[in-house]
Amino acid sequence: MFRKTNRPLRGEITVPGDKSISHRSIMLGALAEGDTRITHFLKSADCLSTIDCFRRMGISIREDENEIVVRGRGLYGLRAPDSILDAGNSGTTMRLLSGILSGQSFSATLTGDDSLTARPMKRIIEPLTLMGASIASKAGNGCAPLLIRPAALHSIHYHSPLASAQVKSCVLLAGLYTDGLTSVTEPAVSRDHTERMLRGFGASVTTDARTVSVSGRPSLQGMDIDVPGDISSAAYFIAAALLVPGSEILIRNTGINPTRSGILRVLESMGGDITIINSDLPGPEPTADLLVRSCPLRGTVIQGEIIPTLIDEIPILAVLASFADGDTIIRDAADLRAKESDRIETVTSNLRLMGADITPTEDGMIIRGGRGLHGASLNSFRDHRIAMSFAIAALAAEGETDIKDADCINISYPGFYKDLQSLLRT
Ligand code: S3P
Repeated sequence: MFRKTNRPLRGEITVPGDKSISHRSIMLGALAEGDTRITHFLKSADCLSTIDCFRRMGISIREDENEIVVRGRGLYGLRAPDSILDAGNSGTTMRLLSGILSGQSFSATLTGDDSLTARPMKRIIEPLTLMGASIASKAGNGCAPLLIRPAALHSIHYHSPLASAQVKSCVLLAGLYTDGLTSVTEPAVSRDHTERMLRGFGASVTTDARTVSVSGRPSLQGMDIDVPGDISSAAYFIAAALLVPGSEILIRNTGINPTRSGILRVLESMGGDITIINSDLPGPEPTADLLVRSCPLRGTVIQGEIIPTLIDEIPILAVLASFADGDTIIRDAADLRAKESDRIETVTSNLRLMGADITPTEDGMIIRGGRGLHGASLNSFRDHRIAMSFAIAALAAEGETDIKDADCINISYPGFYKDLQSLLRT
């Protein structure tokens, strides 16, 4: 049960490591020569699915208290798994791993849970097939399970119809197994963690506006990776501190990569009181401390090229918009319908139950703010970002809120409720 808080959020917090970067650190660490030592790795269900898949392909991954050590076996060192590879709930595991598996000399079957096996995989089957891969949806419906067989790959220049880092990364990773230069051009720039990390491991990667290219058959060398805090996790505490009167919190060492931090730009346009501190530290991924204070918010328009930089934050932005003064319009975000749940529908249904004035559209939503919210009996639809967004909504809503399957937060943030409580207790 969640209820309106009568206490502000106070104190400091460091959110767990970035989910996207954690996945990639295991994948590239496995394909490199030698050890990759990872600190602040996110031990959530999604990233553990990635670890499990690579262990099944013969990669030794040691989990110590403070670090993960991946013993890389080089680009051609993976072994045939003796069972189906299970990506669980994780779209990143399935789509990026499909690119890697397409270049192997063994066959593998990749599956996932009920949510993941209903999500679209044509978006990767198409470009991989263009590269010569043998990849098929077993049920013929464009979804997992996927059967990937050995095939000779060749490089392509792929013009992706989607601004999707999972599609882009899948093609770039398959490109490692070609002789030439593999390029991806996107309609808008998506998160660039794969490109940054590939460079760190020694691959030759160039970026020109919306096009990224990688040279095939690099020699990747193991490295140390310190994973910054996940801005998608920080977003819930930022929202809570903005909403609950009298709050002031400091969120330390958060990733603020410009391809990921669109939420900060949108919150600035909504009048959010957020100060960015210590943003000049060196490292492959930009980081900062975020000082957040409660303040009134105003509605805004969120559309176009900023969408991929905040796609996972739209549920919590919709919650904030319900409390903001005026209307918020979200457009160009049709891919929300292909996430862990159809987030246009799940956000709309929960916000309506809490009394919000919201209209779903094909590619977004319109929220007429300023009415506040009241408690209700909600469903997380087993979508971690829906559960966390509505746990925050409940803190600022009148009365009590119940969220079905609220434990699904384990997908990306196992300590979420504990960390939220610690800010309310300080
Ligand atoms: C991710 C990319 C995004 C995002 C997902 C993680 C990644 O998906 O929604 O949570 O790690 O590459 P799309 O690439 O499908 O937009």
